[in-house]
Amino acid sequence: MNSSGFTVGVFDSGVGGLSVLKALLGEMPQAHFVYLADGSHAPYGERSAEQVAERAHRITQRLRETFHIDALVVACNTATALAIEGLREQHLGWPIVGVEPALKPAAALTRSGHVGVLATRGTVESARFARLRDRLESEASKPLHFSFQACDGLADAIERDDQSDIHTLSQRYIEALRSHAGTSAPMDTLVLGCTHYPFASEILQALCGPNVTMVETGAPVARRTRQVLEALPLPETQRVVVPGVTLLSTGDPEPLERAAQRWLGLQVRGQHLAC
Ligand code: DGL
Repeated sequence: MNSSGFTVGVFDSGVGGLSVLKALLGEMPQAHFVYLADGSHAPYGERSAEQVAERAHRITQRLRETFHIDALVVACNTATALAIEGLREQHLGWPIVGVEPALKPAAALTRSGHVGVLATRGTVESARFARLRDRLESEASKPLHFSFQACDGLADAIERDDQSDIHTLSQRYIEALRSHAGTSAPMDTLVLGCTHYPFASEILQALCGPNVTMVETGAPVARRTRQVLEALPLPETQRVVVPGVTLLSTGDPEPLERAAQRWLGLQVRGQHLAC
């Protein structure tokens, strides 16, 4: 079955997951996407694991009940790191796709063997992230070193579209990444391990210079979502699904609406959803 006729839920703490939605729209233009920004609880990166898991459970339940979504994309590295296992247990056999920092593609790409990773504190300090990093470093057939940096405040600055804060924080974290690198090999690859960061990629690229390649996760996640949907059994009754996007925020929908217009060219009215 092809991926048309499906309704897919997508959520993030805020506007960051739009970088994933962009890739999903390119991969599955016939599907309908219900995008929820948890604006009243953003940012997730500096919240406790329990708080993030509680939000992820509540949002998933609400999107299933109210919007009858066929699958969910957790378009947030932090929520994936802290909540996806619990979500899958609770929604057994139901398709949930997560987003993880692209360490594996970066390991394949690096020539110097030094990969930098920027992510939220929640992601960097998670057991899931540590397992992925340790496994890749120990399995690598060539010297491989990951330097990582928790970027407190950066997702929030992107959320507020505060260019001055985005610049100051990006500079601080790129410098920190270099100063505690733990290897003399030059960093030639930078993983944007938070879905907000692609929206700061021009600033980050300018700070890192042209010899550093940025890696993000939107495209592989979109491909994976399409494969998952195409493997689903045919629904017993065919529903009519209008291709497009519904934009929801648990907070003020206006910043989401503006970001979707600016970055994705979407002319969609955002709605508030109490959840
Ligand atoms: N965009 C999210 C991520 O990928 C969360 C950022 C935040 O809310 O701190 O981790």
